[in-house]
Amino acid sequence: MLDSPPMDASDALRILDEEEGRGAQAFRAATTLDELEAAQVTVLGRKAPFSEVQRALGAMSEEDRRSLGKAVNETRSALEAALAGRRAELEGEAETALLEADLVDLTLPGRRLREGSLHPLTLVENEIVDVFMRLGFTVVEGPEVEDDWHNFQALNIPPDHPARTMKDSIYPSVPGRPDLVLRTETSAAQIRTMQSQEPPVYVVHPGRVYRRETPDATHLPVFHQVECLAVDEGITFADLKGTLEAMARALFGEGRRVRLAPSFFPFVEPGAQVEVSCFKCDGVGCVVCGNGWIEMLGAGMVHPVVLENCGYDSERYTGFAFGMGIERVALLRYGIPDMRLLVDTDARVLAQFGAVA
Ligand code: PHE
Repeated sequence: MLDSPPMDASDALRILDEEEGRGAQAFRAATTLDELEAAQVTVLGRKAPFSEVQRALGAMSEEDRRSLGKAVNETRSALEAALAGRRAELEGEAETALLEADLVDLTLPGRRLREGSLHPLTLVENEIVDVFMRLGFTVVEGPEVEDDWHNFQALNIPPDHPARTMKDSIYPSVPGRPDLVLRTETSAAQIRTMQSQEPPVYVVHPGRVYRRETPDATHLPVFHQVECLAVDEGITFADLKGTLEAMARALFGEGRRVRLAPSFFPFVEPGAQVEVSCFKCDGVGCVVCGNGWIEMLGAGMVHPVVLENCGYDSERYTGFAFGMGIERVALLRYGIPDMRLLVDTDARVLAQFGAVA
């Protein structure tokens, strides 16, 4: 490399002057942060004319050094200010670009969420259970696979009773357990409750039950019941009727009346068929009810034999029980013409009943 002649103070001042202008221009010309960084290297880097001036200071007289040092500092400040100013501008632009890329068009219509809805059976079951919870009953669920004793014997259904023949009941084939049966009524859960606790008992058992039925408009082989059981000292038939009336009014409206006709169930004595005055015509007779009354459920006073089967003293305690089909209430409640619609899983049908709150 050729030795260039040593720089004197006037050269240095001229270079500083030039560099201040050139640098400011180079920074302005940068259109990205990367370009600005490159410009910084050419203007202020080690090999830049500005740095050469700085280095030349060392060989100068003290007087030159002092005056020139000041000029160097001023030039550096000016260049750095220009650099910082341009950097701030470019950073601002970059940020705006990011924000613009991220812009949400608030005028676009949203994608509609399909809201789920509760199944009509769930709605009706919840409603029935709520009524009893308000009356102070507790909710207990029993097993759907029962044994012969809980489903039949303890309920005072003798071995030759027609209700236990293959025609009505469904028996799972479990090797070594010929006594198992899919429960045919939620009354089986009554037995389990009485076995597991002492009176007083105030419980409701909602759940699925199974019978050998061919599906039609009013029958399903798998359906739902809610069983109600109260056992205490001094429970009478009047308590049963009062409870039924409270339930009928809560479910079908104030002003509903309840009437009982004698009926037979092996596990109650006396037993009754319960009818509620029609919520549509109030007992006059219409398409919903026919004769003004709607058959709702079976009920009765718990048979002393059943109490004794569960270890209760039937001299001291009495009780009432009733069980009703939830499907039936749902059909009446919503005016559904065919029970099979409840299990066809057609969302167009099911979505009509009560969206999830
Ligand atoms: N378990 C009876 C049925 O399925 C209903 C019932 C329950 C009747 C309790 C009397 C007492 O039809």
